[in-house]
Amino acid sequence: MPRIHRLTRAVLGSLTLAVCLSGRLAAQGTSQDHPGQYSAIDIETGSRLYAGQCAQCHGPNGDMVSGIDLRRGQFRRPLSDDDLRRTISAGVPGTGMPPFNLQPTELDGLVAFIRVGLDVSGTPVKVGDAAHGQTLFEGKAGCASCHRVNGKGPRVAPDLSDIGAIRSVAALQRSLVDPTGAMWPINRSVRIVTRDGRTIRGRRLNEDTHTVQLIDEQERLVSLMKADLREYEVAKTSPMPSIAGTLTDDERSDLVAYLLSLKGLR
Ligand code: HEC
Ligand code: HEC
Repeated sequence: MPRIHRLTRAVLGSLTLAVCLSGRLAAQGTSQDHPGQYSAIDIETGSRLYAGQCAQCHGPNGDMVSGIDLRRGQFRRPLSDDDLRRTISAGVPGTGMPPFNLQPTELDGLVAFIRVGLDVSGTPVKVGDAAHGQTLFEGKAGCASCHRVNGKGPRVAPDLSDIGAIRSVAALQRSLVDPTGAMWPINRSVRIVTRDGRTIRGRRLNEDTHTVQLIDEQERLVSLMKADLREYEVAKTSPMPSIAGTLTDDERSDLVAYLLSLKGLR
């Protein structure tokens, strides 16, 4: 049965687009039709609804309600995609956030548009179950063997305790599937040979014209004068393995949800 339904939806795809473009809303289908990703049609639907029903309060960039930044995925509390649908449908009682009576496809559209960072050309990111994401992070996904969270874990990779506050949902997903492409200039692995012949490997924390600071493999903070270095190599590829191919789409969504929930508050 579901297969037939999906097929129908695929056949209806181009029709749906035509309907959307003419300004009406497609009502068929539910959130269960595409569990992995959102489609361009969802995003388009969400974009139009957002401009009409949300932007007057949340602003064109999603940051006009204080403490909430829809573009960067910052809410009062961590919200999975299902939580987001519920919040939009029910509103937030006792606040200025009203309830909206919307169809499932319209809710999918809004969630998709929020998850692409309010950017119609962006890549949609599904946000799953943070608790399961934490289990993966500390267990079979092996993240905790490199990353530190809330005071627990090694320092060889960046501390992720506040990563959900400083990175967008899209940036987090990119780090997981394409760690090298998502590298920030500062976090990189370095190999240094000093003038007195010591080789030091570690992760760069900071650098200015005359000095470089890093965490070495023994997790010591090291500060060096550049004038004392014979060799200084900065890695161009990430030591972090991509999760593409090893984890499922749902597991990826759960990890993204967990990372998003890390706001450095504990
Ligand atoms: C009349 C003004 C108004 C409109 C219209 C509005 N919002 Fe809100 N929204 C708010 C306010 C105010 C809050 C903060 C509620 C609070 O204090 O927790 C909020 C909060 C939210 C939150 C965060 C909830 C949380 O728990 O952090 C989301 C998500 C959200 N709105 C989405 C939307 C979407 C999507 C639309 C359009 C369908 C929309 N809002 C339309 C005023 C509005
Ligand atoms: C072998 C060690 C290693 C493992 C395992 C690892 N990472 Fe990383 N990760 C790194 C390093 C090192 C960086 C810093 C950037 C770089 O040089 O690649 C990084 C960067 C990141 C970033 C981006 C940080 C930023 O500042 O934006 C995120 C998010 C992240 N990792 C999450 C994860 C998750 C989730 C897992 C488990 C699926 C994981 N990592 C597994 C080493 C690792």
